[in-house]
Amino acid sequence: MLPTAKIGPYTLPNPLIVAPMAGVTDRPFRLLCRKMGAGLAVSEMVIADSKLWHTRKSQTRLNHQGEPEPRSVQIAGGDPAMLADAARQNAAFGAQIIDINMGCPAKKVCNKAAGSALMKDEALVREILETVVKAVDIPVTLKMRTGWDREHRNAPVIARMAEDAGIQAIAVHGRTRADKYNGEAEYDTIAEVKASVGIPVFANGDITSPEKARRVLTHTGADGLLIGRGAQGRPWIFREILHYLETGKHLATPALDEVEQILTEHLSALHGFYGEKMGVRIARKHVGWYLQAHDESKQFRKRFNAIDNAMEQQDSIEHYFARLRKEEEFAA
Ligand SMILES: Cc1cc2nc3c(=O)[nH]c(=O)nc-3n(C[C@H](O)[C@H](O)[C@H](O)COP(=O)(O)O)c2cc1C
Repeated sequence: MLPTAKIGPYTLPNPLIVAPMAGVTDRPFRLLCRKMGAGLAVSEMVIADSKLWHTRKSQTRLNHQGEPEPRSVQIAGGDPAMLADAARQNAAFGAQIIDINMGCPAKKVCNKAAGSALMKDEALVREILETVVKAVDIPVTLKMRTGWDREHRNAPVIARMAEDAGIQAIAVHGRTRADKYNGEAEYDTIAEVKASVGIPVFANGDITSPEKARRVLTHTGADGLLIGRGAQGRPWIFREILHYLETGKHLATPALDEVEQILTEHLSALHGFYGEKMGVRIARKHVGWYLQAHDESKQFRKRFNAIDNAMEQQDSIEHYFARLRKEEEFAA
């Protein structure tokens, strides 16, 4: 059964959210994941200091044209007033939800503690949460880790603080800051967070299959899930998980034709969004992820990564899939 997930006034179409990933969850990827079934896609983080927003990178991050509602924009920083200002400005640009990043393991953003490093300073966390919530009249959400190290898993404390401050939903990645991305995510602390607050809680970390999604939801009692790396090169993971949660049955994995179509459209969107030069570069890592499932793709990837124009990238993908289809026919 599918839990109903709400964030403030918004009832999400379903409880599966694309986790924010800087350098990955750009507008083309967010749109694609929504199309493939995700109920919400959080933007890549925007640095709170608006003096830095004139750069091309920031401008593309601030672009949400054509995205389905609600549009959630993540802000990152360590200064309450600056974060409040960033929240206000993003709301004016069309954000409908502001998400505060306390989950990123990067040490500093703009020379100040930010991301999960903030979790060590609970007084500052309280100030940030209260200031940002007061600054805007749209829902503010919080994304955090379970704590700053395994001896200090203070996510439940911060979750209660967040609820008191008026935060509308919380996402917890089941690792501490000190864990970085090592080891496996744990879900006991997420269950504790869920038991500590009345606002919606979303579980995150290492959810890469429908079965794991089911297990994490059951174990934590969470209202929904955030999926990050599991969607890289596999945006259809959202519909697969949804189908499994709804029916208990597995959806067939997409056929080669569909994968090719999804990938080609994704490349076109990247080329269009970033322009050819940058789009071609960004396309390389996505292609690498899509083709991970195919054993002999390493050599292809090497050749693909040397291509420096959009048309050739598309041709090369077309040839690659034509060959795969032939191999499939031969093996059948
Ligand atoms: C490349 C990459 C970029 C990320 N960028 C952000 C970010 O901008 N903001 C954030 O809160 N978390 C960020 N994260 C963390 C993810 O949102 C997520 O919490 C983490 O990857 C665990 O979930 P997963 O196992 O489903 O990937 C990033 C993760 C990756 C792999």
